[in-house]
Amino acid sequence: MSTVSDALEALTDLQPDRARVTADILYGLSQRPRQLPSKYFYDARGSALFEQITRQPEYYPTRTELQLLEQCAAEIADVVGPRLHVVELGSGSGRKTERLLHALADPVAYTPIEISRAALLASIARLAQALPAIEMLPVCADFTQPVDLPAPQRPAARRLLFFPGSTLGNFAEADAVALLQAMRQTMGADGMALIGIDLHKDPALIEAAYNDAAGVTAAFTLNLLARLNREIGSDFDLDAFQHRARYSVPRLRIETELVSTRPQRVHVAGRQVDFTEGEAMIVEYSHKYTEASFAALVASAGLRVTAQWHASAPAFALCLLQPA
Ligand code: AVI
Repeated sequence: MSTVSDALEALTDLQPDRARVTADILYGLSQRPRQLPSKYFYDARGSALFEQITRQPEYYPTRTELQLLEQCAAEIADVVGPRLHVVELGSGSGRKTERLLHALADPVAYTPIEISRAALLASIARLAQALPAIEMLPVCADFTQPVDLPAPQRPAARRLLFFPGSTLGNFAEADAVALLQAMRQTMGADGMALIGIDLHKDPALIEAAYNDAAGVTAAFTLNLLARLNREIGSDFDLDAFQHRARYSVPRLRIETELVSTRPQRVHVAGRQVDFTEGEAMIVEYSHKYTEASFAALVASAGLRVTAQWHASAPAFALCLLQPA
């Protein structure tokens, strides 16, 4: 039995500090083209804007995956078995998790690993009330870094890592492989991972999802600069950068950039960073997959797809992975 205050007491807080954020940003700005890590989108406002994105008519991945989970949850529960410790990477609002946890047989514990403390606390408060029989063991951390998982009081049959939303697609290929390898370690020899992946489809449909007419995605992207100005004291001029998201068919990915609208100098942690007019800073990749490209990716991390559930139009998949 886990109450909201039990869950808050159990919170493991490893949120990246200012020095870590500054080092990551300076490194990204020293690259050519310049890059900013997309994981820093998710401060309180960024997480709220992302929630809004998921409700935009053009942004199909979230509602497609939710419907797919709804349709297949019972079948997934049969395949993964009872008494799981469910560990979610980048849990956000926890909407998808709730559907999964309701369907599973006697889940023992739930560990959301989420970089945004605000999003983590809000989702845990809701889930602890909706699912009081499950021990809530939240971890506020960057899930790309090694995390010692809290041990549930009741022994679990195995770990199920849940990684929905095609968040894996936000990693460059080498980083995705490293993350999958780390997941293989975390799940253990008899563990599993359930991963949501967005599939390649009509580029126009994909591009529309990252350029919604209401401008929520543009606000989300620009909020990264506002966050950095506030947290590490940089002086990015939000009116002098523009959101741009284009789908590269050969690379099967959305490339989201912030484009400098004029020559300008930005100060970041005592360094001067000069931008030319039209210079683009990469702020996010959103890779899309084919069945074959995904199978090859997970194979290079020592994993294999042992079951999958597909939505068609728009195409999206939930894949179950186990050590190869
Ligand atoms: C979280 N992630 C999977 C989203 C995506 O589709 O790449 C983030 C996002 N960026 C812009 N819109 C949504």
